[in-house]
Formats: sequence, C-alpha cells, structure tokens
Amino acid sequence: MSNRILTGIKPTGQLTLGNYIAVLKGLPKQMEKGELFYFIADLHALTLPIEPDVLRQNSIDLAAFYLAAGLDPNRATLFLQSDVSAHSELNSIMQNYLYMGELSRMTQFKDKSSKMKENAIGLGLFAYPVLMACDIILYDAKTIPVGEDQIQHVELTRDLVNRFNNRYGEVLVLPNYEVKKVGARIMSLSDPKVKMSKSDPKGDIFLKDDLSVIRKKIMSAVTDSGSEVKYDVENKPGVSNLLVIYASMKDITVEEAEKHFEGYRYGDFKREVADAVIEELEPFQNRYKEIIANKSYEKVLQEGAERARKVANETLRRVQKAIGLLGK
Ligand code: TYM
Repeated sequence: MSNRILTGIKPTGQLTLGNYIAVLKGLPKQMEKGELFYFIADLHALTLPIEPDVLRQNSIDLAAFYLAAGLDPNRATLFLQSDVSAHSELNSIMQNYLYMGELSRMTQFKDKSSKMKENAIGLGLFAYPVLMACDIILYDAKTIPVGEDQIQHVELTRDLVNRFNNRYGEVLVLPNYEVKKVGARIMSLSDPKVKMSKSDPKGDIFLKDDLSVIRKKIMSAVTDSGSEVKYDVENKPGVSNLLVIYASMKDITVEEAEKHFEGYRYGDFKREVADAVIEELEPFQNRYKEIIANKSYEKVLQEGAERARKVANETLRRVQKAIGLLGK
C-alpha cells in the first residue's frame, strides 16, 4: 500500500504562522514522500459558534492557502471534509469505540471547555476526537503531519485502531503522527508562554496580514531581560520563540540560528527574523491572491471530493462488513 499522508486544518479564525509551519511549509516535500490527502476540516469548525459567511470565506481561503503552499492537484488530493459523507457515517460507528473517560482527558477539550459555561459546550466539541480519528482512518493514512497540540488526538486514534483491530482483525491502518523538529509549537509573540492560536491579533502572525503589519508585530514581540540572543525556553521564552521561527523559515536547526545571531542586539535580531518571515510569506501571499482571483480552487475541490469519496467509501464498507452491518 502506498504511503498515505493526511492532515486537516480547521477553517475557524485566521490562519497563523503556526499553522503554516506545521502543515503548509513542508507540503512540497511531503508530496515527494507519499500520496497526500489534505483537507479543510469544515465540520470541525462547527464545534464552536461560527457565522455562515465566515465559515464560507475561511474555507475558500484555506483551499487557496493549500494551493499557494504548493499542493499540486495532479499529485495530491485536496477536499472539503463535508463533501465526503463517509466522515459522518464512520463517525456514527466509531463513537461507540471511544469512551467518555478518554475523551474528557483530552487537553484541547479541557482548555476550550474550561472557558465556557457548561450548558454552552456542544456535544461536538466533546466528541471532536472521534471525528478526527475517522478523518484519519478513512484514508488508511500512515503519516499525519501536525503541530504538537494535535499529538494527543492522533494517539487516541491509534488506541482506537488497536482496539478495533483486536476485536475484528486487521481492518484499519495504524497511523503515526509526524511533528516538525523545529516549530512544533510556535508561541504567541505577545505572550510566549501560550501557543500562537487563531484568535489573538497582537500575538499572532496571520497569513493574510499585510507585510508591514507582520514586521511591526515581530518588532514589538515580547523579548526577555538580558541582551543575549540565546535559546533558553525557561528564562528567555520570547527570544527562543523568535529563534524557532527564524530557524523554521530558513530550514536550519535552532543551534545554527543561535550561532548566526551571536553578538546581535535584540533590535537587529528581530529585524532579521522579520525579513526571513516576509521573504517566505511575500511570494506565498502573491500566489494566494492569484488563486483567489482566478478561483482555480473550485475545480480542485470538486475533483478532490470525488477522489476522496472513492477511497473513503471503500474503507467505510470494509468497516461496516467487519462489524456485521449487512449491505452491499
Ligand atoms: P488546527 O486547525 O487547530 O491547526 C492546523 C495545524 O496547525 C497546527 N498548529 C500549530 N503548530 C505549531 N505551532 C502552533 N502555534 C500551532 N497552532 C496550530 C496544528 O497542530 C495542526 O496540525 N484537529 C485539527 C484539524 C484536523 C486534523 C484531522 C488534523 C481535523 N481532522 C485529521 C490531522 C488529521 C485542528 O484543529 O487543527
């Protein structure tokens, strides 16, 4: 079986540099390594309230971002999760094989729900990892490139696959997560103790930000006391985060980045980090704008959905048969 590589991004807020580094930056290299199934996790976007127009626009943006990052639709499959009904069908089966206890231990659920009133927490938010496991299982994917915050969900998928296969035989493929050595967890520029997420306009670099705004955000990133540019997450979280960002942009190790900035002052250091990010994002933004203008994502998504449906339906059928559901 070919090496299937699968990942998804939620079209919720604005995409950040963290998302870019986790998934988009490595996309051309991933295409060399295997058969890509990359998707827009639009059903997952519903787990927190979202306006229909925002969801629509974000989904289009995300399709364009994947393409701007180098996804070649002749070699890889790009699709909308909601275009492939097998995700929801498998979800209704697999929710019986994951348990309340394990779902309530998921860090992301705990983080998100702790900020909400009990009666505003949707069942979908709680059951999120079940659908995510189905996304992975349906494509027999072996490799799941993600940022650090998604490791726990992929591990839960592995538990589910093992549990299912122990009961019914070797029906499902066991996936592995893959995280970047550098940049698995990009932190907020305004508070380097918390993850860069899609919701903090000061601390996040959004992929659609004007280049001048990106520069400004990096120049005003929180640094630390002292003046040395050193990688020390404990004592210099701000500087360390900028070093990681620089290293990811340049495809070098953090040690190499640290060496490069030996003797630099914070101001010059930040300027070069900003240059590196802009150098990377400028051509990316230009490609994105072109794709939005010519709407080439429309045909790509349509063809992608057809290919994805074919693969997903076969797996769904295999699962249905294994558990004793009658049918074709
Ligand atoms: P999402 O949309 O939150 O994030 C998309 C990807 O970006 C990574 N990421 C980060 N990486 C480094 N630093 C950060 N600050 C940062 N913030 C986000 C995430 O780890 C992720 O890889 N549940 C997923 C979407 C999903 C999925 C799947 C992924 C649904 N089904 C199946 C893989 C396989 C999510 O919410 O990602």
